[in-house]
Amino acid sequence: MRIRSSAALVEISAPAKLNLHLEVLRRRDDGYHELESLLVPVGLFDTLLFRAVGGGDIDFSCVGEGLPGGTASLPEASENLVVRALNALRARAGRALGAAVRLVKRIPIGAGLGGGSSDAAAALVAGNLGWKLGFTLAELHELAAGLGSDIPFFLHGGSAICRGRGEQVEPIAGVGRMDFVVCMPPASLRTGDVYRICTPVARSGAWQDLLAAMRRGDLAFAGKLLHNRLEEAATRLSPWVARLRREFARLDVLGACLSGSGTAYFGLCRTAWQARRVAALLQQRDVGQVYAVAGGC
Ligand code: C5P
Repeated sequence: MRIRSSAALVEISAPAKLNLHLEVLRRRDDGYHELESLLVPVGLFDTLLFRAVGGGDIDFSCVGEGLPGGTASLPEASENLVVRALNALRARAGRALGAAVRLVKRIPIGAGLGGGSSDAAAALVAGNLGWKLGFTLAELHELAAGLGSDIPFFLHGGSAICRGRGEQVEPIAGVGRMDFVVCMPPASLRTGDVYRICTPVARSGAWQDLLAAMRRGDLAFAGKLLHNRLEEAATRLSPWVARLRREFARLDVLGACLSGSGTAYFGLCRTAWQARRVAALLQQRDVGQVYAVAGGC
């Protein structure tokens, strides 16, 4: 998350994420699933602009820039996580605070790229700064976890191993820069639908080997270890997942995988140049929106 703040305006670039490893360990009594996931932020950003105003209302607007499906895919203001995050923040402060908030969306929705969660984390940080509330990171973390499983990851920034239902964040250092091609097909999936039909495995996955490979810069090995337990479930729900798996298998990438609950699929590349080349090839195959992005660190 990149933050620019002046007396009048807080501007935050909210990144997307990729899950390089996602293991589902068990279904919990509260309906959520116990996870073990290695996430990296990537250079595809929404922009949140926040201005504190008098009057106690939150005036929220959202525009799409290059979104697949155009503005038709934008969520209603009332159900937007940004508004819910700011309401949670005001309630915690116990004050009737007002704001004008504009969100420029570029991260595809229903993609497994964490766009909505990243926007919510940005809203918590923007509100805390813009309204001068002075909440600590731990206090914001508590609010974030109450709003959604992936939001704490974005609040902390950087790459991390996430556990619990995703809200327990352990930052990881030394990951290094990686280059990816990400493809968002013209159909999305709802996270809850994918989790509902997934099969947990009850044993920890090989994320330590993946992390070690990334840390020593062995991207060829890291590519082989990309893993997402939700891919099988997402394949049953959308024909696009199998289609993208086939498309990526034909491309010169080190490994490829579904991100989160999908439907976005990504490939790990050797260099930024190669990522751009692979993206150009994929763009010709009519599979949706294609991005070449850097991630990690
Ligand atoms: O926490 P969040 O609102 O992002 O989760 C959306 C849905 O995804 C949940 O309602 C739940 O059905 C499913 N989920 C899950 N286990 C997780 C995270 C999400 O079952 N660890």
